[in-house]
Amino acid sequence: MQGKMTVNKAFPISEIDPRVYGSFLEHMGRAVYSGIYEPGHETADERGFREDVKNLVRELKTPLIRYPGGNFLSGYNWEDGIGAVENRPKRLDLAWKTVETNEVGLHEFIAWAKEVGADVNMAVNLGTRGVDAAWNIVEYCNHPGGTYWSDLRRKNGAEAPFNIKTWCLGNEMDGPWQIGSKTAEEYGRLAAETAKVMKWVDPSIELVVCGSSGAGMPTFAAWEVTVLEHTYEYVDYLSLHSYYGNQKNDLKNYLAMSVGMDRFIKSVTAICDYIKAKKRSDKTMNLSFDEWNIWYHSSGKNSKNKPWQQAPPILEDIYNFEDALLLGSLLITLLKNSDRVKIACLAQLVNVIAPIMTEKGGPAWRQATFYPFMQAAHHGHGTVLRHNLDVPTYDCEDFKDVPFVESVVIHKPDKKEIVIFAVNRSAEEIIDFTTELQGFSPESVLEFTEISGHDVKQTNTKDACPIAPVPTSATIISGNQLAATLKPLSWNMLRVGL
Ligand code: AHR
Repeated sequence: MQGKMTVNKAFPISEIDPRVYGSFLEHMGRAVYSGIYEPGHETADERGFREDVKNLVRELKTPLIRYPGGNFLSGYNWEDGIGAVENRPKRLDLAWKTVETNEVGLHEFIAWAKEVGADVNMAVNLGTRGVDAAWNIVEYCNHPGGTYWSDLRRKNGAEAPFNIKTWCLGNEMDGPWQIGSKTAEEYGRLAAETAKVMKWVDPSIELVVCGSSGAGMPTFAAWEVTVLEHTYEYVDYLSLHSYYGNQKNDLKNYLAMSVGMDRFIKSVTAICDYIKAKKRSDKTMNLSFDEWNIWYHSSGKNSKNKPWQQAPPILEDIYNFEDALLLGSLLITLLKNSDRVKIACLAQLVNVIAPIMTEKGGPAWRQATFYPFMQAAHHGHGTVLRHNLDVPTYDCEDFKDVPFVESVVIHKPDKKEIVIFAVNRSAEEIIDFTTELQGFSPESVLEFTEISGHDVKQTNTKDACPIAPVPTSATIISGNQLAATLKPLSWNMLRVGL
């Protein structure tokens, strides 16, 4: 099969915001306890955090971590996680029917995030709480000193403010499963008042307001309209959440799901622009896709857990090769929408639907989905170029005219480099794929790696990591054209020197 993509230096989409490689760590399952934190583990540091996990998070290079939830957030008292650990209360977590010990709280998490090179995207509870608790946590984290909450932070060991920049106004407040869920009117008013007051405490912060918890919600679109009517002036981003899965075991349909993600982003963008027009506003609302991932392998398994355990395994999806291919296509889709998607959080980071897995008392390892994310987070920086794609297409159950290639081209002027990420969705055919780089003089291929040639159900394990990129070399540069061979079912990264 032949395919061609054409880009032109003069036609950019947007600069990539590095926060699009964000992730998410919720107090649920084994994400925190026996995930990042396990005192007594052979790699634990003096504060009980696993060095092996820290190293993998550093390798993944995620620059932003959303915390502490998730559904957990909507019943959380942030004050439970400060002060002497021995005085912290144990609480029921109604979201996941477990017991939260609060051994890890604000200071511990913020210090850990700094060590792994990430900023914190902090979320405030708008399920059971409201303006007061949100004001207080911003004052605690970001006010220099001389007030009750800022001096308490200093007393608790952090002289300098944490200066947390990005904050979420609750989580999935439209979902009936959410503790303290709300109608769009109720949430819109509360989010507006909370946002206003949080910015009075620290005008430099940026706020994310909750969109729908998925495009399939019956209130989708109407929810966004009402919430933005109330909050447009006060917030900076609207959130999107979406999870994907191959429940039907239909590979063609599964690998096309990034087309659905693209439609979702375009629909939410249109809603934001409708409100912009209605309000005669100069402001453009950007998007935070702050929960996205593949989630289906573990579905239904939670219900077998005995309630009120501490850190039981929950949502421990083990990912395979086809998941890595879809995850790559989803990432490419986020990048192609980089003019509006400024923040995105892979949900989640460790053990819970995560690229990093741990065994309690044992090793930590990289899941199949680790590598496309890692390569994009390392090399996917610069300006995304608009492209014209000319490749054969296919139809499947949920989508029509799905191109056999999903791809994106990024220009890094500072490094004199072009980066191309591409997925070949065809299970049968090699694609001879040409990229015409108008306005550029490609000189050499600096790196060409692929993940291909595996059984679609192959997984990585703690003992072996077969799903990983390997170098390949089938390319030809001729003038401004780069020809590359994309193997059947492959994730590819090409770095071209200019
Ligand atoms: O990421 C797992 C859960 O998915 C989160 O807690 C919630 O926000 C979403 O429904």
